[in-house]
Amino acid sequence: MANPSKKRVLSGMRSTGKLHLGNYVGALENWVRMQDEYDCFFFIADWHALTTDYAETSRLKENSVEVLLDWLAAGLDPAKCVMFLQSHVPAHAELHLLLSMITPLGWLERVPTYKEQRENIKEKDLGTYGFLGYPVLQAADILIYKADFVPVGEDQVAHVELTREIARRFNGFYAGEREYIFREPQALLTPAPRLPGTDGRKMSKSYGNALLLTDPEPVVRQKLKTMVTDPARVRRTDRGNPDVCPVGDLHKIFSGQETIAKVNEGCRSAGIGCIECKSWVADALVKILNPMQERRKKYEDNPRLAWDILEAGSARARDVAGATMDEVRKAMGLGCSPNDSSKDEPAKDSTK
Ligand code: TRP
Ligand code: SF4
Repeated sequence: MANPSKKRVLSGMRSTGKLHLGNYVGALENWVRMQDEYDCFFFIADWHALTTDYAETSRLKENSVEVLLDWLAAGLDPAKCVMFLQSHVPAHAELHLLLSMITPLGWLERVPTYKEQRENIKEKDLGTYGFLGYPVLQAADILIYKADFVPVGEDQVAHVELTREIARRFNGFYAGEREYIFREPQALLTPAPRLPGTDGRKMSKSYGNALLLTDPEPVVRQKLKTMVTDPARVRRTDRGNPDVCPVGDLHKIFSGQETIAKVNEGCRSAGIGCIECKSWVADALVKILNPMQERRKKYEDNPRLAWDILEAGSARARDVAGATMDEVRKAMGLGCSPNDSSKDEPAKDSTK
């Protein structure tokens, strides 16, 4: 795991509770692949969840546990990657504070997600210090592990870009003789197909249109039955077009070539009905979800097991983060401990 020749990857997910298929194809599936090739750190961003959901925190812990269970279900393996909880590595908060000192307000006000979310999320007051500082905390998350790569979706690329600018500014002020203290991380844009939910809009928990990784087969089939189709295909005898049908989109992502060919042919010629077509998508989804749910069950039956994985991961993360913070404090001229014999320190009292 600590193989120095491997590039380091870091990414996080807010603790939003049970994950859906969009989270899987947009991130998790990619992470599972990466853990074989990189030195991976993945964390549950419970502090980031607080930046918007600060007023009601009764489900915060449960939501973190659900994310963890879905990660393990999807195949993240504690023998191959480090999984941890942000709030269990308090050094993120210390670095966030220090980075906040050097981050110009204008940089934060210009972040696209800041404006967007303040305009779109009207039911919560996002005029807080913490919400404005969201990307600074994210920069701390990334820089404290000296990550080479940060796999993210498109909406997060601006945050990684800002992280690079903060790193550059920090190095400019404090690196001194050294080439740098923080490495500028690179965003790895996860090639994510747009995944439609049952109403045809982008799959999202807040739209209530999501297929959850934990949905049992009958629920998957039921949700698909209610899924919208090509609006031109009203009757069974109408011809349709899978390229404008959300069910067609799901086929392209989850079905094999043979099924896709059958759908193309059958839909355009009215040779198949939508009910049949949807049952094929359901078949494909169940095949992906079944092994996940099987794996999840092991941890659901024994929650201690999952929690122990998170605790061990957090301990490992604290070690790595702690080493970076030692460097950072020293570079900034902050509190060296009295028995640190480094030359940057004030001379020891020799009168004793
Ligand atoms: N902001 C990210 C999101 O909403 C989650 C996140 C927090 C993150 N810290 C991170 C992602 C660090 C990558 C790296 O999806
Ligand atoms: Fe959509 Fe399938 Fe119906 Fe065609 S047959 S409109 S692809 S659900």
